Amino acid sequence: MDKERKLLIAGNWKMNKTVAEALDFVQDLRREATGIKEVDIVVCPPFTALDEVSKAILDTNIRLGAQNMSEHQGGAYTGEISAGMLKEFSVRFVILGHSERRQYQKETDALIAKKALAAHAASLKPIICIGESLAEREAGITEKVLDRQLNGSLAGLTKEQMQESVVAYEPVWAIGTGKTATSQQAEEAQAFVRRTVAAIFDDTVARRLRILYGGSVKPSNARELMSQSDVDGALVGGASLEIRSFIDIIKNSI
Ligand code: 13P
Repeated sequence: MDKERKLLIAGNWKMNKTVAEALDFVQDLRREATGIKEVDIVVCPPFTALDEVSKAILDTNIRLGAQNMSEHQGGAYTGEISAGMLKEFSVRFVILGHSERRQYQKETDALIAKKALAAHAASLKPIICIGESLAEREAGITEKVLDRQLNGSLAGLTKEQMQESVVAYEPVWAIGTGKTATSQQAEEAQAFVRRTVAAIFDDTVARRLRILYGGSVKPSNARELMSQSDVDGALVGGASLEIRSFIDIIKNSI
């Protein structure tokens, strides 16, 4: 595929898999993913499985991501986990501002920006999630929402940090619903994201930035989505829980 950006396919397991289930999965993934060099493959298990998964993927082409982290470095924040703690398990990526956290934990763009800065301070690459709701799309304000989320969630990042970040466009109406955005809808939104990043930072940063699509990605739609010029990979939920569908998404994207 003719892209200057390397594809990145990340599995967001959400609140799924025991340690034993996680290990079963990554043992299969290690075998299936051997030799795949065209795609950066990332798995994002729940915190409780990070340690074991980290050991199981040592010396492989699979990278580890977390699903969230605190904006603080440490201290009296019961139940929170810091970037430094994630680093202990060789975590490289961290999903920030997922729509489920925006919805259920009331995470704001300002908070997500603080977390992104904290991630970079620990040399973790944030995967910053944005996306409009169904009501917002139907009201014709998708671009306005994305613009607000980008300006808010990326606030304070340097150009260097932005270039090392990843943005995931996940239309809320497509998450877990089986309703995928058409490749045209994804491309339109993601081209807008790139233009907005160019306006906030510069053209070089925008050109180098990887923008993922997320929302009901499956083996049957991966190829079409990944062939869009501004789609540089996928953040996969449900279909990343089964080895067959996850590996087929990866293989169909190449
Ligand atoms: P689904 O692939 O299950 O729609 O979830 C997408 C998602 O939220 C990934 O972060």
